Amino acid sequence: MVQAISGFSKKSKSEKIQWLAENFLQNNAQAIDVLKGYWHPDQATQQLHDDFIENPLSNYYLPFAIAPNFLINGNLYALPMVTEESSVVAAASNAAKFWMHRGGFKAEVISTEKNGQIHFNFHGKEKTLETFFESVKTQLRESISDIEKSMRARGGGLISLSLMDKSHILDGYYYIHATFETLDAMGANFINSCLEKMAHTFGERALQYPPFVEEQQFPEVVMSILSNYVPECLVRAEVNCQVEKLETKNLSGKQFAQKFIRAIDIAKSETRRAVTHNKGIMNGIDAVVLATGNDFRAVEAGVHAYASRNSYYGSLTHAKIEDGIFTFWIEIPLAVGTVGGLTSLHPLTKIAFQILQNPDAKELMKIIAVAGLAQNFAALRSLVTTGIQKGHMKMHLMNILNQLHATKEEKEKAMEYFVTKPVSHSAAEDFLKKLRS
Ligand code: MEV
Repeated sequence: MVQAISGFSKKSKSEKIQWLAENFLQNNAQAIDVLKGYWHPDQATQQLHDDFIENPLSNYYLPFAIAPNFLINGNLYALPMVTEESSVVAAASNAAKFWMHRGGFKAEVISTEKNGQIHFNFHGKEKTLETFFESVKTQLRESISDIEKSMRARGGGLISLSLMDKSHILDGYYYIHATFETLDAMGANFINSCLEKMAHTFGERALQYPPFVEEQQFPEVVMSILSNYVPECLVRAEVNCQVEKLETKNLSGKQFAQKFIRAIDIAKSETRRAVTHNKGIMNGIDAVVLATGNDFRAVEAGVHAYASRNSYYGSLTHAKIEDGIFTFWIEIPLAVGTVGGLTSLHPLTKIAFQILQNPDAKELMKIIAVAGLAQNFAALRSLVTTGIQKGHMKMHLMNILNQLHATKEEKEKAMEYFVTKPVSHSAAEDFLKKLRS
């Protein structure tokens, strides 16, 4: 019987593992060894990781890789990528190489505004609320002057405040919409601190506002939080080339381009395809977002909401042929930072930024958008020509061999054998069986 526990977070790491082993792992010594085996040998590095979250027991490794040869706005980059999916880095590298010889990627930041809301209830007269909001705006701004100080000194801070009436959607629901420039920071903590402070000031002033007192109707703050939907923090990345330069083994450049565009049109028309299409884009985006210590859940949520901005969920990428030129592009919202949070704490994140030549947030937005575009290009190119499994299973072969406990020699022989043969779990099993008999 598992026992509930109180004060768990106060226990030492070894005590936590001991408790876990007794209650959930049947005192399995091997499981304990696995957990402890992933501890970093350097105590200070381990402590750094332990301090990231509550109740850490061990570390969870994911491969940290690079995809070289990304020509972006004329500069060559190697992209650091963290992912568990076998074919992602290979696909990114292939796409990078392909476009390096066709002019490379062009990327631009369209806008950098973040936002947050103070959500509140109000059941009085709307006109009274509007007048109050106008009268209190300056005080709201002033109340965050301390929090804003260093951000403002660097050219960022609160941009605007506006009152939004949503009572037609939800009875008595209003919010204050605040927009921010957070420069090289993703800005979540900054924005949330500003919002909470302004919400407090808003509530306090409202209690003293004579018309509210007379009417005995006061705004009541429900919550204050940033929004991960950032359609005003947009980046665009593009590739283009003459259609003939897209020729493949079996398709002319034009045939390939038309099939490729058709694949995107399908993703624009059918949610079932759009979700997978965009998932492939996120394979590239998340890998760089993770490697640079950014919040991939925030990015995922914002990007998928953006994909639904026209009231249906569609492709994040677009393509066209015009005057014999094939153009393929992506436009996505990305709130990422190069300072603050994990970005300057995790030793591997620091290396990732060095690999990227220490970009600012705008440069990082461009790089990440390119990673998404490249990944989508690689996926669609496979899908409309050879199919995805050929390349994918080749990359997955090593996972299968590891599952089958292949030795180093067996792996080498298998890799050689499967260069020309279709990979599957059973084919790998048969191969090893024959080899071992
Ligand atoms: C697999 O992780 C991603 C793909 O399914 C993306 C796509 O279908 O476009 C290959």
